[in-house]
Amino acid sequence: MKILLLGSGGREHALAWKIAQSPKCEKLYIAPGNAGTLNAGENVNIKVNDFEGIKAFCIEKDITMVVVGPEDPLVNGIYDFFQDDAQLCSIPVIGPSKKGAMLEGSKDFAKGFMLRHGIPTAAYRTFTNETLAEGKAFLHTLRPPYVLKADGLCAGKGVLIVSTIEEAERELEKMLGGMFGGASSRVVIEEFLSGIECSVFVLTDGQSYKILPEAKDYKRIGEGDTGLNTGGMGSVSPVPFANKEWMQKVEDRIIRPTVEGLKAEGIDYKGFIFFGLINVDGEPKVIEYNVRMGDPETETVMLRLKSDLVDLFEGVATGTLAQKQITFDERAAVCVMMVSGGYPGSYKKGFPITGIEDVEGSIVFHAGTEMKAEQIVTNGGRVIAVSSYGKDKQEALQKSFREAQKIQFQDKYFRKDIGADL
Ligand code: AMP
Ligand code: GLY
Repeated sequence: MKILLLGSGGREHALAWKIAQSPKCEKLYIAPGNAGTLNAGENVNIKVNDFEGIKAFCIEKDITMVVVGPEDPLVNGIYDFFQDDAQLCSIPVIGPSKKGAMLEGSKDFAKGFMLRHGIPTAAYRTFTNETLAEGKAFLHTLRPPYVLKADGLCAGKGVLIVSTIEEAERELEKMLGGMFGGASSRVVIEEFLSGIECSVFVLTDGQSYKILPEAKDYKRIGEGDTGLNTGGMGSVSPVPFANKEWMQKVEDRIIRPTVEGLKAEGIDYKGFIFFGLINVDGEPKVIEYNVRMGDPETETVMLRLKSDLVDLFEGVATGTLAQKQITFDERAAVCVMMVSGGYPGSYKKGFPITGIEDVEGSIVFHAGTEMKAEQIVTNGGRVIAVSSYGKDKQEALQKSFREAQKIQFQDKYFRKDIGADL
């Protein structure tokens, strides 16, 4: 197969690494990719939302499958773009239709979907500028802290959790007043849930599904889960509390009703579903859906997936996923994310990265890197993910922390307490 993978982060490097191992993959292109994906395939300078550019490339190179890494092109309807085009409709796209992508693209849609299908999640209501007064009144019925979510995509910044009612009212007003542009013209206010989070992933062909290894990610910039939210500073798989009994609840109450719900609503969905879950006194509840793999969870989940990912994608594309086998590596996998100084605030790019070739026993996935005149340089907030296997999480973490010391770039930072809470 000739595969085009869209995206340029650590998630995409991990997917590319796994795809390239498949005997079914004849040629892999990554658009636009990064300095790391060069080792797994050929980078192509096309942006993920340039559908016309992607179309021309697919035709020119006889691409036989498109795998979509990030949510943006999915929410923008890349699946439908292929389906509706006579020259592209025979090329399977791994990722949901535009309607399916609303599970991530609209918080209000996702909450309504969960309500319709009895999927456990925080109680909520949605407000607009016209219903601002009702929104404020609703806040008064809740106990602090208050959770306010912009309805649309905000690059991970659209959720505010504030501790006082005054602040909540003020933020609601600001959000509805255009704080996140059109994305916050509707705001979901929901009940605060307290517990430990866990990311669960499935691959579905719209009929059946396969559950991938779960992972926990570390969202805050500072050790001890302090400071600002980031895209993710590390991940660990497996997650101890996600034992057989808990995962059975997740499957029965959340995964199956979601896949059945999509089917019942006639929503075309052939791709990954990412369930952002929270464990509330032993009971799983959905915090959010994403319509793609997680980053940095993919950098551990791909290590634990033994099966041929391209074979699974073929099952997704042809509706034969139920017949495929999925097997996991019993070892633990962890990922430690090395980031640019200043991230998630402002940071500089273009610093040379050295020492990657000295890494032994870990797998280096590039996130924000770029090749400039034969030199790998930093090109983002999250720069390099150092992933490792271990007989247990401690052993894997020791390796990642040790190997991360060998990689150098100006102002590098990484959390040294990934996995310490588990
Ligand atoms: P989301 O983008 O919906 O995943 O929200 C971002 C983060 O905010 C989540 O990963 C949680 O840590 C937190 N969060 C969101 N919703 C809630 C909630 N209802 N209760 C507690 N924390 C939440
Ligand atoms: N690690 C969380 C995400 O990918 O959204």
